[in-house]
Amino acid sequence: MSYRSTLLGCGKYAPKRVMTNDEIALAVDTSDEWIFTRTGIRRRHIAAPEETTTSLAIEAARDALASASINGGEIDLTIVATSTPDYGFPASACLVQDAVGAHGGAFDLEAACSGFVYALALADSMIRIGSVRNALIIGSELYSRVLNWQDRSTCILFGDGAGAVVLSRAAQPGPLPRFTLGSDGSGGPLLTMYNGGVPEPSNATPGGVRMNGPETFKFGVRILVDVTEQVLRDEGLSTCDVDWLVPHQANQRIITAATKRLGFADERVLSNIEEYGNTSAASIPLALAECVERGEVLPGHRVLTVGFGAGLTWAGGLLTWRT
Ligand code: ACO
Repeated sequence: MSYRSTLLGCGKYAPKRVMTNDEIALAVDTSDEWIFTRTGIRRRHIAAPEETTTSLAIEAARDALASASINGGEIDLTIVATSTPDYGFPASACLVQDAVGAHGGAFDLEAACSGFVYALALADSMIRIGSVRNALIIGSELYSRVLNWQDRSTCILFGDGAGAVVLSRAAQPGPLPRFTLGSDGSGGPLLTMYNGGVPEPSNATPGGVRMNGPETFKFGVRILVDVTEQVLRDEGLSTCDVDWLVPHQANQRIITAATKRLGFADERVLSNIEEYGNTSAASIPLALAECVERGEVLPGHRVLTVGFGAGLTWAGGLLTWRT
């Protein structure tokens, strides 16, 4: 017996503290005008000292469970997609599992800004084979604690936040979801963040994003177009058949250039980068949750998610909302 999955609920959490571009410009040589015109970012949310990647994830998870009208005890798989976990171990997902009373497996998944869609694909495959009924998939990031706040080329881009979905066994049969995952490790040096396992001797302190901005930008535009086209082609659909495109929120200019090439109407492309900056693995569920909260995502809608980022990695997923 083969099952399929559908999105049953979606939630989010953003720290209360907001940091504007003007505030960053007090510390490094930049301006609101430069940041906004190059990236579309005006503000980002910054975690309070007592908050952690896990605490953000728990808030988003609880919001998603409420949106899905199920309780934590009905969850039998928990995945947290993150590049900024609290610990090497325990996994943030285990701490979330305990906080919401979920059952079954729990683990973190690291595929940078593609991590959330990778996690969706994995959960979908477990639902398809019947070993999972309800999966809690969370993207949670706390970049403000790993950024080099003296590096104006990277510190302006990122923010903290979390988003979550409940992906469940669908009541109706149907063709979707459809996923595609990809990677190209030869592009690894374009985007790096050191961790404990770098060669010794090393003066590299953990954290600190290093990025080739222009090359990453070109990669983002190309891959957003390619992945979208591939998922639609695989499913025999066109852009008109998609209700919501939820791209990774890396840079508004990447989103605008790619969606113009694809011919997507602006009103069907979700963007909240102005308010949150790039929240990496959290950006897709955070944008989706806002749209759900506004009551715009209706049962049967097709939602196309496209993640891309460090690795290099990319992933596309075409899913349905409550079918
Ligand atoms: N304020 C003012 N000037 C700046 C700033 C800043 N914050 N940052 C860089 N500059 C300067 C540079 O020093 C350079 O000056 P120079 O010409 O005198 O050398 C000039 O601006 C142009 O720099 P570029 O890097 O060429 O600027 P670009 O137009 O490419 O914009 C940006 C930079 C916004 C970072 C862009 O390249 C970009 O968005 N890239 C993609 C970022 C991205 O998607 N990252 C994904 C991360 S996802 C993940 O997986 C972690």
